[in-house]
Amino acid sequence: MKAVVLGAAAGGGFPQWNSNAEACRRARAGDVKASPRTQASLALSGDGERWFLINASPDLRQQIEARPFLHPRRGLRSSPIEGVLLTGADVDAIAGLLHLRERQALTIYASAQVLDVLKANPIFGVLAESCVRRQAVPLGLPVELRHVDGSGSGLDAELFEVPGKVALYLEAGDTPGELAGRPGDTVGVEVRAGGRRLLYIPGCARMTDGLKQRLAGASVVLFDGTLWQDDEMIRLGLGPKTGRRMGHMSVSGPGGTIDAFRDVPVGRKILVHINNSNPILLDDSIERRKLKEEGWEVAYDGMEVNP
Ligand code: MLT
Ligand code: MN
Repeated sequence: MKAVVLGAAAGGGFPQWNSNAEACRRARAGDVKASPRTQASLALSGDGERWFLINASPDLRQQIEARPFLHPRRGLRSSPIEGVLLTGADVDAIAGLLHLRERQALTIYASAQVLDVLKANPIFGVLAESCVRRQAVPLGLPVELRHVDGSGSGLDAELFEVPGKVALYLEAGDTPGELAGRPGDTVGVEVRAGGRRLLYIPGCARMTDGLKQRLAGASVVLFDGTLWQDDEMIRLGLGPKTGRRMGHMSVSGPGGTIDAFRDVPVGRKILVHINNSNPILLDDSIERRKLKEEGWEVAYDGMEVNP
């Protein structure tokens, strides 16, 4: 299995278009210790030729152009992108599907709930169902990812429930129940090939025993790195929301990601979906150093994971 991080940032990217915060200014100024990152997505392949994406970020067009292995190679119209798996219906997970119009055959793999959101939004009709197949994936059951020609990819993928939050634009109320959404609104992806296991979990509201059991023994885990501290957006004057309110557990602090993984044996631990307010984006921050001491890596665009 090959895996390449197409984008490592959370919604908004790094720098975010309307942020004049210091970190974003450093990224814009070309500071080598503040590398820009596009919005979160991962590319996976069983044969190194044909690829599946996990999530289609609003930056997908730019991500494809930046990675020659995603460029067309056969005939006048083609793409090595055979399918897209979705972990939720957030803007940063699905908006990039609109870049994949142009009558190119591929398969969208998602929970029934997420496919319902696409169906309810007529704009996604630009991906004609005669061309772009939707495959509902039941939670907790592995499916083999198939190329458009029907051949197997050698990658088995399983969507599984993680504590999360309904997409921002679908919030119907402010109670914890309304915000949490239903099973299938937020999922993680486990991909297996040749005895190796990769887990991709860009959004997770809290660690659970079930999730720990699933994570244990994984070759590589790419995990929600949205915020360093639950209230960092408020403290930095960037916004009114805590991580908790956004459905993201924070990296540091009691009950945070570093703590939660201490007793979970995992080959490689990598943070993805990193918000532009998170100081780990800066190579010279104290937080980056602490993270490294705890055995964590910070994803960057183009990072090869190859479990
Ligand atoms: C999130 O990860 O919390 C969402 O992508 C937020 C958003 O939709 O902007
Ligand atoms: Mn997001």
